[in-house]
Amino acid sequence: MPLRCLSGLVSIGFQANGTDWMSFVRQLADPLKGTFMKLSVALLVASTTALLSSGAYAGAAEDIIAKEKCSKCHTATTTKKGPSWASLAEKYKGDAGAEAKLVEVLKTGGKDDHNVIKASDADLKAIVQIVLSSK
Ligand code: HEC
Repeated sequence: MPLRCLSGLVSIGFQANGTDWMSFVRQLADPLKGTFMKLSVALLVASTTALLSSGAYAGAAEDIIAKEKCSKCHTATTTKKGPSWASLAEKYKGDAGAEAKLVEVLKTGGKDDHNVIKASDADLKAIVQIVLSSK
């Protein structure tokens, strides 16, 4: 029986090496384990970096809103000196030019002489998006 012959040879081979099955499997798995560790560390670093950079972006707009004290005159849902952001979101709903218009208002003060906010266009856009997504 060639098959039994072969398995006999293989087991003799293991015994001759002084190797049992488990350590043989472990030997095979060890370098793989190293690769998996490196891979998961790399994935962890990549996802943390992505999280941090997206978080930093959202944070910038919120920091500016806090620093500029928009809340002195605006809240999300109630009218103070200025209209609530929810009512602005309602007013500009479906207006494709709303973002550009409101960025302009915040940048220049607009025709109603609004407080001018010094921030990059990207930050102003993010601020306007927070306003326009208020409910
Ligand atoms: C001193 C009070 C005051 C502060 C502070 C203030 N606003 Fe206003 N805001 C107003 C008033 C009043 C209006 C309504 C009249 C107008 O459009 O200027 C208004 C209107 C707006 C509008 C709508 C503009 C339009 O043309 O429809 C947006 C958007 C807005 N504010 C965002 C902000 C943001 C963001 C901040 C903070 C960075 C802020 N406001 C700070 C008083 C204020």
